[in-house]
Amino acid sequence: MNLEADRANHIILITGATGAIGQAIARQIVTKPSYEVVLACRNEEKARQAVREIIQATGNDRVRYEIVDVSRQSSIQALAEHWQGALHVLINNAALTPRSRQETPEGIELQFATNVLGYFWMIQAFEAHLKQSAPARVVNVASNYAGDLDLTDLEFKHRRYSNGTAYRQSKQANRMLTVAFAEKLKLHGISVNACHPGSVNSALSNNLGFGGYESPDKGAKTPVWLATHPIGQQQTGKYFVDLREVRCRFGEDKAGVEALYQACLRYSNEE
Ligand SMILES: NC(=O)c1ccc[n+]([C@@H]2O[C@H](COP(=O)([O-])OP(=O)(O)OC[C@H]3O[C@@H](n4cnc5c(N)ncnc54)[C@H](OP(=O)(O)O)[C@@H]3O)[C@@H](O)[C@H]2O)c1
Repeated sequence: MNLEADRANHIILITGATGAIGQAIARQIVTKPSYEVVLACRNEEKARQAVREIIQATGNDRVRYEIVDVSRQSSIQALAEHWQGALHVLINNAALTPRSRQETPEGIELQFATNVLGYFWMIQAFEAHLKQSAPARVVNVASNYAGDLDLTDLEFKHRRYSNGTAYRQSKQANRMLTVAFAEKLKLHGISVNACHPGSVNSALSNNLGFGGYESPDKGAKTPVWLATHPIGQQQTGKYFVDLREVRCRFGEDKAGVEALYQACLRYSNEE
């Protein structure tokens, strides 16, 4: 098989590419022959700046941006509706960790809307594009820092809000939904995997009270590998850390995975 020809004109869409890890992921992929990267960003000024920096750093101009607010399904749907052509890889990476409980204009707790439903709605909205472009992949940037998911209180309406707990819940959810989507999309030639990128200094990690001890480039390594290496197509429904598959107990809870998927579906206008 001619892998270079196989990869020709692979289009990759990545959310949160103005952030520390997301921009490093985009920059690393742009240096690979035949890949075109689209940065999905909420802030146009930062998006332009990220595109400029990536072109400057790589000497490659196969990078552009689109505007989307992933905390709002209507914004994601608008992006998917005007998307032209193929999509081979979707990298869900955008996330935040606000210190106080906030809500979207639709009244959904912001961290759940962005970090969990943002990933869910992106896959849902781009499913048809990925199917048409198959073999295709979804890479969900999750975390080892995960847990405390409460299916009865996903939005911290009853628990006291803590950004650490809400974040850990969201990253557990990313790992669980990876398994749900992998199962649903495997017959369509779409792989769905999750990973831990590393510990990186960023707005997100600073809000959680830590600085990170790895570079953004180191953090980008596993997501880039899942997005571009054949292993990321061959494997599905798996969790990876440092380029290695790691057992994920959250994904093994099949009843929990399905319950979370159904809960997210109830937040979607595509039930
Ligand atoms: N940093 C770590 O140590 C670490 C460890 C494990 C996992 N992770 C995961 O790695 C991923 C990237 O984190 P990071 O550390 O690189 O964070 P970051 O530097 O704070 O970047 C977060 C990105 O998400 C974007 N974003 C937030 N809300 C958005 C929205 N509603 N719509 C569109 N984009 C939105 C931000 O856009 P703006 O620039 O406009 O704010 C930014 O580009 C996250 O999924 C995180 O959970 C990080």
